[in-house]
Amino acid sequence: MVRLATSIRDLKKEYVLKSETVRALRGVSFDVPEGDYVAIMGPSGSGKSTLLNMLGCLDKPSSGQLLLGDDDISRMTDDKLAEVRSRRIGFVFQSYNLIQQLTVVENIQVPLYYQGRLGPKERQRCVELAALVGLRDRLDHRPTQLSGGQQQRVAIARSLVNDPYFILADEPTGNLDSRTTAEILAMFDQLNNEGRTIILVTHEDDVAERARRIVRLKDGLLCSDKQNSEEERTRARQASLAAAEAVRDE
Ligand SMILES: Nc1ncnc2c1ncn2[C@@H]1O[C@H](COP(=O)(O)OP(=O)(O)OP(=O)(O)O)[C@@H](O)[C@H]1O
Ligand SMILES: [Mg+2]
Repeated sequence: MVRLATSIRDLKKEYVLKSETVRALRGVSFDVPEGDYVAIMGPSGSGKSTLLNMLGCLDKPSSGQLLLGDDDISRMTDDKLAEVRSRRIGFVFQSYNLIQQLTVVENIQVPLYYQGRLGPKERQRCVELAALVGLRDRLDHRPTQLSGGQQQRVAIARSLVNDPYFILADEPTGNLDSRTTAEILAMFDQLNNEGRTIILVTHEDDVAERARRIVRLKDGLLCSDKQNSEEERTRARQASLAAAEAVRDE
């Protein structure tokens, strides 16, 4: 049986403000099997970040069920939620969110440091993660001494340090030029081919078509859920490489 990285059932989220209640998610259901690669799309305000925040245990649903592995997020106390977030969630943001004073390898260590779990074995693992994202010879660089793509690769390595249920990424290529976008998407392809589950939010068709599957939200509801064929994924990969080449030739 395929194990599920997450299972979402009739998920609702309401933000109660003074004058009104915003129904950001109005009953969303879908499953993500382990090893899947899902792009979440939808117009501004459709609930994408709200959904990602629930998956990342940054916020709790108003109702419905959200399973991460065997953990039911919707029933957790805030303390337990914070623990799951720090131990089992890997986030990648548009703006990298690296600590400027720390080196590459120290930035990757940050989640373990906060959990008080940074022993010799863990330090070695952080070096291996830096190597995995192609930064073995940049361990002691600081973020200002790296390109945008290298900074995002540090963020990806940091997201993996916890052995997360999945990599969650909110517009991870939003700040990157086409060459660097190609580089980061190749990184995601590699990680997914090694079996890691990826869930990302994007506005760009080229990015979404690289994923195995596109889930679209509209007005807080799921409006479509489509598998990308291998042909579509290959075409998107080639388009991304061509765009990167065009920049290189300029
Ligand atoms: N903390 C909050 N308090 C009140 N309303 C909120 C809050 N966060 C989001 N919303 C509202 O919930 C709805 C969904 O917002 P969300 O940020 O999930 O959209 P999105 O799909 O990520 O949009 P974008 O593409 O612009 O990032 C919007 O109407 C937004 O105004
Ligand atoms: Mg958003």
